[in-house]
Amino acid sequence: MKANVAVTRRIPRNGIELLRGECDRVEVNPNERSLTQAEFLAMIAGRDGVLTELINRIDDEAFDAAGPRCKVFANCAVGFNNVDLAAANRRGIVITNTPDVLTETTADLAWALIMASARRIVESDTFLRSGQWDGWGPMQFHGHDVHGATLGIIGAGRIGTATARRSIGFDMKVLYYDASGMANAELDRLGGRQVGLDELLAESDFVSLHVPLTDQTHHMIGQAELARMKPTAHLINTSRGPVIDEAALVSALGDHVIAGAGLDVFEKEPAITPGLTDLDNVVCLPHIGSASGATRAKMAELAATNLLAVLKGQRPPTPVNPEVLDR
Ligand code: GLV
Repeated sequence: MKANVAVTRRIPRNGIELLRGECDRVEVNPNERSLTQAEFLAMIAGRDGVLTELINRIDDEAFDAAGPRCKVFANCAVGFNNVDLAAANRRGIVITNTPDVLTETTADLAWALIMASARRIVESDTFLRSGQWDGWGPMQFHGHDVHGATLGIIGAGRIGTATARRSIGFDMKVLYYDASGMANAELDRLGGRQVGLDELLAESDFVSLHVPLTDQTHHMIGQAELARMKPTAHLINTSRGPVIDEAALVSALGDHVIAGAGLDVFEKEPAITPGLTDLDNVVCLPHIGSASGATRAKMAELAATNLLAVLKGQRPPTPVNPEVLDR
């Protein structure tokens, strides 16, 4: 097909091969880093389609830079808070994302953070490696039990549900809150109970965030919400950093308002709020929720398939703004 495509960050090879198998021109960002905004705008100029990463700002500025031939931006992520959907809709540009394929892998990582925060895994490992360990001690590294505890899920969508499902083996009680107010049949079957946000914060031993980043969820967890949590509770975030007021979290962790936190995402990635990484009671990961080899390959395949479908005039498997296709 006569098509000119840009890939703004290197993705697993299967995705690139799919694009190269069908398009006569595919240019991939050769750097092992994100493009600067100026590089991004320059790279997408004159393309028919663009395969993006989650930090690329897909808005009027990008659409102007891409030019009138551009039909599709295929985001290689499930989240699309980097996209101005109203602008895309106005211009009839299709936006796609990569849902479903990363649900279970991201839920696995939420659990890695639950376990790591509860049982002080990183702190203990750092202690041992430092050469300070002089043998088993009955008072060393007391953490919190996960089994039998209460898991509070904020955002009862795909990943929140998959995270809750994993709690069965730990004999946990599940509470969930979803702003839609909709009951979640699977969580109800697991014995989960839908509650208000305040009750979830007050009752949960582990609060796990699974909401998209929107104007409504920005700083959804701030000083007041942290103060409602138990002093023995842990906050887990595998969604988007700005859902938490990170400065308020640094204070809450430092003052032991809550016991710990497990974070895969940050408010101003890759910058981290000063003081956060000085704390022992937080585990910080570099946004690796979906980072298993198998899942990243599936995301690459889905993003490429979405992009190719639009260029061929077909319906992409996972459009974010299907209303554009239905016009
Ligand atoms: C990762 O954060 C994603 O949205 O896929």
